[in-house]
Amino acid sequence: MNEQQRKEMGSIQQPEQDKTAKDKPLKEKTTEDFAKYFETTYQPPSLKSAKKRGKEDVSVHYDFEIPEDLKGLGNGKKFLIRTYGCQMNEHDTEVMAGILTDMGYESTSDQKEADIILLNTCAIRENAENKVFGEIGHLKSLKREKPDLLLGVCGCMSQEESVVNRILQKHQFIDLIFGTHNIHRLPYLVKEALFGKEMVVEVWSKEGDIVENLPRERKGNIKAWVNIMYGCDKFCTYCIVPYTRGKERSRLPEDIIQEVRQLAAQGYKEVTLLGQNVNAYGKDFEDMTYGLGDLMNEIHKIDIPRVRFTTSHPRDFDDRLIEVLAQGGNLLDHIHLPVQSGSSDVLKIMARKYTRERYLELVDKIRTAMPNATLTTDIIVGFPNETEEQFQETLTLVEEVGFEGAYTFIYSPREGTPAAKMQDNVPMEVKKERLQRLNAVINHQSAQAMKKYEDEIVHVLVEGESKNNPDVLAGHTDKNKLVNFRGPKSIIGQIVPVRVTKAKTWSLDGEMIEAVEVK
Ligand code: 5AD
Ligand code: SF4
Repeated sequence: MNEQQRKEMGSIQQPEQDKTAKDKPLKEKTTEDFAKYFETTYQPPSLKSAKKRGKEDVSVHYDFEIPEDLKGLGNGKKFLIRTYGCQMNEHDTEVMAGILTDMGYESTSDQKEADIILLNTCAIRENAENKVFGEIGHLKSLKREKPDLLLGVCGCMSQEESVVNRILQKHQFIDLIFGTHNIHRLPYLVKEALFGKEMVVEVWSKEGDIVENLPRERKGNIKAWVNIMYGCDKFCTYCIVPYTRGKERSRLPEDIIQEVRQLAAQGYKEVTLLGQNVNAYGKDFEDMTYGLGDLMNEIHKIDIPRVRFTTSHPRDFDDRLIEVLAQGGNLLDHIHLPVQSGSSDVLKIMARKYTRERYLELVDKIRTAMPNATLTTDIIVGFPNETEEQFQETLTLVEEVGFEGAYTFIYSPREGTPAAKMQDNVPMEVKKERLQRLNAVINHQSAQAMKKYEDEIVHVLVEGESKNNPDVLAGHTDKNKLVNFRGPKSIIGQIVPVRVTKAKTWSLDGEMIEAVEVK
C-alpha cells in the first residue's frame, strides 16, 4: 500500500465480531451497534497471536468524532489519569484527557473529587506492574466510599492476558479495562461502564489503524510530544513492547509535519518526536524510500527552536539521518541511543541485531558528523546467564563511548517473551551489585560532563518553577541538562542565556545573564 492509499477515508476500525457496526462510519453507529458488540467481543489479549502478525496494510483515518449524546456525559464531572512508564504513555494520557474534556469532563489532581480515575499502565518491568497493583489496592477503599466512581485500567498492562485475568478474578470493583489500541473508543467505553452492570473489557490483540484527528489536552504549552510511529517489530528477546504496542505503523509525513507546524504556530518551543523505535520510521511504507532522515530534514525547516526524537535503535540508525542531523539548527545533537549491553554475545541473545563493534562504529560516525554530540543510553544488567566478563564489557563500553547519562535496569522476566523461558544462573544479589557498579560509573561520567559547563554560558528553555523550590526557575539546555537558576517568572517559556555557577552530578546551578530570548 502506498502513502496515498493509506489515507483511506473509511470508518475507524471497529470490533471485528460486530460486522454491522464495522461497516458503518463511526458517527453513524447506534448505541445498539455498540451494545451488540459488547455482548460478543471480549477475547483475552494473546501474546502468541501478536507474534504471528503479518505485514497487513494499515489505514489512516480522519473521522474520529464523539457522538452528540456522549458529549455531555461528563458535564459537571471530573477525571484524573495516573500515568506510569514512558513518554508514549504520557502522550496517550494527553489524548485520553482530550477525549474526556470533549465529553464535558474537567481535569482534577485530587482523587477525592474525581468521578473517573484511569490508570495508564506500564508493563516493561515487574516493579512497574507491582506499583499499579498497589494503586489498584488503594483505590478499593475510595470506590467503597464512592460507589459511583468509575475506575479504569488501560495502557500496556491491559494488553497482557495474565493482568486482565487477575483483575477479572481479584479486583472486580474495577469498572473498565481497555487496551492501547482502543483509546479512540473511550467515549463508548465510558458510556458502557456508566450504564452497564458488568466490568467493561475491550482489549484488541491486533493493533488498530492510525486515527489522526484525536483531540489532545497537552500538558503545558512549551514542550510537546508528537507521535511519528506506533509499535515495534524488533522483538528483542526480553521486551514486552512489541506485544503490548503492536506492529510498527508510521504516521504519514504530511500529518506529522502539519502537527509540528501547528505547534510552532501556537508558540511551542520544543517538540519530541516519539516512537518505540523511531529509526524504523517509514519502513512500513510500501516503497520504503522515505525514512526518519527525510522527515527530520523537513521538520528542520519549520520555525520551532528545538526538535528531539526518542527512542532510537542502533540497528536502524542510518547515514541519511546522521547527515541530516549534522545540519544542526533546531535538530539537537543530544542522542539517546540504547545499547542494552556491551557484550556482543549478550547482544546476540537479546536479538539486538548489532555487535559491540557495530555500535562503536555508529558512535564514531555520529561523532565525526557531530563532534559535540552528547550520547545517553539504556542498559540492562543481569540478563540471563550474563557473566562477570560480559558485564565488564558493558562497563568498558560505557567508558569508551563516554555516555553522559543512562537509564539502567536489572533484567526483569516478562511472561510470553523468549528470554523469560531462559534458565538464569545469575543470583539477584549479583545483579543488584552489578547495577550499583554500573551506576557508579554513569554518575561519575555525568558529573565529569557537567563540570565542563562551569563558567560557561548555556541556553536554557525555561520550563517553570523548580520542583524543590518555587523561587528558582528550571529548564533544560539543548543537550538536555537540567539547569536551576533565579529569574523572573515572566521568562517561563523562553530560551535565555544562563551562566553556569556550579555543576552537580545530574544538574547545573546558574545565574541569569539577561532576560532576553536567545531565539
Ligand atoms: N527488563 C529490564 N529492562 C527492560 N527494558 C525493556 N525490557 C526490559 C526488561 N524485561 C529496558 C530497556 C529499554 C527500556 C525502555 O527499558 O533498556 O530500552
Ligand atoms: Fe523493546 Fe525497544 Fe527492542 Fe522494540 S526495540 S523490542 S521497544 S527494547
